[in-house]
Amino acid sequence: MLLLLGLIGHPVAHSVSPAMHQAAMKELGIEGAYLAFDVLPENLRDAVFGARALGFKGLNVTIPHKETVARYLRLKEEAEAIKAVNTIKLDDMTGYNTDVYGAMKALEEAGFKARGKRSLIVGAGGAAKAIGYGLIRVGAKLVVTNRTPSRGIELANFLRKFGPCTFIHFDKLHELRGRINLIINATPLGMEGFEERLPVPPALLERVTVFDTVYNPMETLLIKEAKKRGCRVVYGIEMLVHQGAKSFEIWAGMEPPVEVMRDAALRALGSMR
Ligand SMILES: NC(=O)c1ccc[n+]([C@@H]2O[C@H](COP(=O)([O-])OP(=O)(O)OC[C@H]3O[C@@H](n4cnc5c(N)ncnc54)[C@H](OP(=O)(O)O)[C@@H]3O)[C@@H](O)[C@H]2O)c1
Repeated sequence: MLLLLGLIGHPVAHSVSPAMHQAAMKELGIEGAYLAFDVLPENLRDAVFGARALGFKGLNVTIPHKETVARYLRLKEEAEAIKAVNTIKLDDMTGYNTDVYGAMKALEEAGFKARGKRSLIVGAGGAAKAIGYGLIRVGAKLVVTNRTPSRGIELANFLRKFGPCTFIHFDKLHELRGRINLIINATPLGMEGFEERLPVPPALLERVTVFDTVYNPMETLLIKEAKKRGCRVVYGIEMLVHQGAKSFEIWAGMEPPVEVMRDAALRALGSMR
């Protein structure tokens, strides 16, 4: 039986997910395909139910559909908590969020133990929410900052339902110097085609672990500056690979070939330049 998988989002042109999942299928000798579909918001419902009718096993979901798609699904664990879905299993219409797992696995593999640690998240969008939730669940203490304070305060209030979380203004960030263990960039700053600017004052990059969710380029300005100062760094590509690996496991019911998926993602990113 063919394993039909896909990605729905708008836009989807630069996704590395097809390369990652095709490589996983090839490695495991599974016959199938993973295709990216650009779906406008008004076509979301038709796309999901249409894929199901066509015999697709699963879909990944990206911006701007992660929240909207939840209304058609039975939500599992993290997806239920943050009301955002990035993985759909179509046979039983269940929605998962593997971004949370991907981020936590990336931190764990880098040797960062989050329990009891003070963590600063820059950003208040979907990535910040997923990572913030994952960190709080394992016992971290969170501080959120964001360009638009109202969105940052909203996220901090939401995350506080699960554990300790406060908001801090961008211009007060210097007060955190020496008082945090982890900094996470969950904004597009540093991404190819965006501003190449540090998301935090450089003085904060001292004796901290720095996790940049941006994966294109891999060596962002933030990663470079953090390394220069001897900080441990966590690459965005690791979150991407592990969320993809977890989605694959959900659909295929097999252990995902993580190394093969990472190599494929890196090759796909390289060929985009
Ligand atoms: N590695 C992975 O697997 C993975 C997965 C998902 C996302 N990401 C990364 O995370 C980033 C955010 O994704 P998302 O889904 O959370 O996006 P989103 O929901 O659109 O949120 C974007 C966030 O970035 C902030 N922001 C945007 N431009 C900014 C700027 N010029 N200066 C300061 N802040 C800025 C926004 O602030 P305002 O509220 O002020 O607009 C908002 O908080 C993406 O760009 C991507 O690089 C990585």
